[in-house]
Amino acid sequence: MALSDRLKLVNPSEIRKLFDIAQGIEGLISLGIGEPDFDTPGHIKEYAKEALDRGMTHYSPNAGIFMLREAIAEKLRKQNDIDVDPKTQVMVTVGANQALLMGFATFLRDGDEVLIPSPMFVSYAPVVILAGGKPVEVPTYEENEFRLNVDDLKKHTTDRTRALIINTPHNPTGAVLTRKDLEEIADFAVEHDLMVLSDEVYEHFVYNGVRNYSIASLDGMFERTITINGFSKTFAMTGWRLGFAAAPAWVIEKMTRFQMYNSTCPVTFVQYAAAKALRDERSWKAVEEMRKEYNRRRNLVWKRLNEMGLPTVKPKGAFYIFPRVRDTGLTDKKFSELMLLEAKVAVVPGSAFGKAGEGYIRISYATAYEKLEEAMDRMERVLEEKKLV
Ligand SMILES: Cc1ncc(COP(=O)(O)O)c(C=O)c1O
Repeated sequence: MALSDRLKLVNPSEIRKLFDIAQGIEGLISLGIGEPDFDTPGHIKEYAKEALDRGMTHYSPNAGIFMLREAIAEKLRKQNDIDVDPKTQVMVTVGANQALLMGFATFLRDGDEVLIPSPMFVSYAPVVILAGGKPVEVPTYEENEFRLNVDDLKKHTTDRTRALIINTPHNPTGAVLTRKDLEEIADFAVEHDLMVLSDEVYEHFVYNGVRNYSIASLDGMFERTITINGFSKTFAMTGWRLGFAAAPAWVIEKMTRFQMYNSTCPVTFVQYAAAKALRDERSWKAVEEMRKEYNRRRNLVWKRLNEMGLPTVKPKGAFYIFPRVRDTGLTDKKFSELMLLEAKVAVVPGSAFGKAGEGYIRISYATAYEKLEEAMDRMERVLEEKKLV
């Protein structure tokens, strides 16, 4: 199938549509946005200005400036227990999103199936389709805190299965896979000779002493894993558009070729700022401040949702929470519409994230504490007025 035909199969995200409606509503509190509400730390902005003053306004190598690739390799060694050669096994991308498509393009063949835990981040199915593959949803369940289970993977495996995606901490459920989960998934991937795409963009936002592990650090996994991460969430840099991938050299070589004919390279002065940021203690202090604040908000929202009659698993990571709304008698879409129009609170219907998200909504707590309190009051009021709980 031609790329132009595949493009017809990928629709604008439901979230975008909702936000188009939300635009006109005065006094709206949006709990729909999937990005940090914090500003990028000041010293990182200063590094970008410094780079501009130093004339870093030209193309960079297609795989990114070496200084940043080295800083990423150092970070991966220290924080993720992944050993990579910065020359051949790391590249810088225009956000994690771009790395997803380029990553799949390196090995998928027409009709290859990719297992995706559902609910799922909205880009996954479209990037698999654009790269010529077929997305296969593997449901995860509230009863298992939305953690992916190998038995469910097995049920959806065929002789066309070529890869699987894992995303921990998870968007939209906030689930964090345990080391044991990852070990079982790794064994399954080896047994079925699958590539693994591991999306770790929320890695630093974990709570209650929970630790996030990288599957590529497990024995025998680096050679079959594309680890994807970025600066958007970690340092509140969504608009800077910077991500990275670590993978075997044959993958990075192909991804770099893709990037050469696509964006050429990520923005050069942004790469410099990111390299300096990774090696600056102030950045990690800022991450810890953000993490603490997200945790405070998580506790508030989780408590309030359960109190108002929406059963909600306590998420262990990311900045999302995924309450069950089907017991109100409304579909997730109707529930979200009601909240938008009557409570002036924007939430995202769970079905926007795949079939397994039906009957749930996603709330992002990357919003000020006071606003979250107000949003919870408004939602509770509407639920009581309409006698939905
Ligand atoms: C799970 C997940 N992966 C990747 C991304 C994209 O990140 P980036 O801004 O680095 O492209 C997002 C953004 O919401 C996300 O939630």
